Amino acid sequence: MTTRWSLIASCGSIALALAGCEQAPPTPFQPVATTKQVMAEVLEPAADTYWDAVGSTSDKDGFHEHAPKNDEEWKAVIASATVIAESGNLLMMTPRALNQGEWMSLARGMVEAGVQARAAAQAHDVQKVFDAGAAVYESCTKCHAKYVIAAASPAK
Ligand code: HEC
Repeated sequence: MTTRWSLIASCGSIALALAGCEQAPPTPFQPVATTKQVMAEVLEPAADTYWDAVGSTSDKDGFHEHAPKNDEEWKAVIASATVIAESGNLLMMTPRALNQGEWMSLARGMVEAGVQARAAAQAHDVQKVFDAGAAVYESCTKCHAKYVIAAASPAK
């Protein structure tokens, strides 16, 4: 008697489990921004901070190199790289992920570029920050070339 009841009970839960499998599993996070908003409000400002951190300008007096001058300024560059890296994860989340294949690897490419960018800034290495900035830029344009129909490439 006991075994028969437990058999019925377990069949019931199998049926429930199967029904549950038809729906996407619930996730604890709540996406707030659209992809476009992540780009404009999260990624673009962070990328601009990173790209502007080191470089050179020229005027009538010649070339002027610039780089962060103190820990406070380096901190801002490190933080911008953190935002770039973590934004790749935001793009991999439902509903922003456009597919489970190429989109994911392009977003992961940006995470990796961001991690490199962060390490370069933590090392206060001006040349590495310059190079990492180029790698970050490449990770943006690779995805835009594939997924942005309208010409929406980063400002710099
Ligand atoms: C995995 C793909 C992907 C990566 C990586 C990516 N983007 Fe985008 N980006 C998009 C898509 C898709 C859009 C178009 C969104 C829309 O219009 O709905 C877009 C649009 C934009 C826009 C236009 C936003 C607007 O208001 O119209 C900017 C600016 C932008 N991206 C900046 C960046 C920067 C800077 C990076 C790199 C640091 C980057 N993106 C990396 C997919 C990506």
